[in-house]
Amino acid sequence: MTNSLLQNKRGIIFGALDEQSIAWKVATKCVEQGAKITLTNAPVAMRFGKIYDLGKELNAEIIPADATLVEDLEKLLSQSMEILGGPIDFILHSIGMSLNVRKGKAYTDLNYEFMQKTFDVSAISFHKLMQSAMKLDAVAEGGSILALTYIAAQRVFPDYNEMAESKALLESFARSFGYHYGTKKKVRVNTISQSPTMTTAGSGIKGFQEFFDYADKMSPLGNASAEACADYCVVMFSDLSRMVTMQNLFHDGGFSTMGMNPAILNV
Ligand SMILES: NC(=O)c1ccc[n+]([C@@H]2O[C@H](COP(=O)([O-])OP(=O)(O)OC[C@H]3O[C@@H](n4cnc5c(N)ncnc54)[C@H](O)[C@@H]3O)[C@@H](O)[C@H]2O)c1
Repeated sequence: MTNSLLQNKRGIIFGALDEQSIAWKVATKCVEQGAKITLTNAPVAMRFGKIYDLGKELNAEIIPADATLVEDLEKLLSQSMEILGGPIDFILHSIGMSLNVRKGKAYTDLNYEFMQKTFDVSAISFHKLMQSAMKLDAVAEGGSILALTYIAAQRVFPDYNEMAESKALLESFARSFGYHYGTKKKVRVNTISQSPTMTTAGSGIKGFQEFFDYADKMSPLGNASAEACADYCVVMFSDLSRMVTMQNLFHDGGFSTMGMNPAILNV
């Protein structure tokens, strides 16, 4: 198998917190495929220190940035171009956080200040990132921008709480900005809708194990792993997918198309 799908490409990967993070696997696979990258996460995530291990392993510089702050995003984009030696070819937005979920608030008893923070971190940050990149002309012609999402944007998963609306907003930003970025610079913008995955963000959802097992049984191929998601991201960052934009791409072992699976009834 070739190891050069991302040869000569420069990328920025958000959201690698620990070895379980989907972004961790994406960063590793991108470098395996020849890319040069910078890693970023919220300053508070730096305290865990794990991202520095990944940086060492991948020979990637780490630039702290709170994705809700435009100044931080501008600094991140400018520094990444400087470090990597030119405009950025691909970006992964792998960020999600709900204050209401963290505080155990029920969907029918939400705190609206928390909700605004949730939307800012999990969705509006994606618009801020793309707007900053466009203003700085930081993305190369034909570049590829991806965000990770979940099917609760389209269907009801009660325990996913306000993250459902965050993901709906995130996917909408991908479509709308995809038009503007595509027209202006042939930059592609897509979201990948991933299966439930055992990570810090994932397991914060109430009853996650049951939820994970249900999806696994419902999907003809089973749940897609973080590694498989990373492979899909590599394809989406490569030139092989150069005409795909403004899409929400399900990466879920077939879950999204199922109505009923006898495997569930036989439990
Ligand atoms: N785990 C799942 O089941 C699953 C399923 C579908 C989609 N996703 C999505 O995948 C993405 C990555 O999540 P994950 O499951 O790898 O969990 P994770 O907890 O490893 O990653 C979430 C990341 O968001 C970062 N973050 C939070 N606030 C931030 C801020 N203000 N600025 C910058 N970064 C910030 C965290 O530090 C963390 O690295 C999220 O968008 C999540 O919603 C996850």
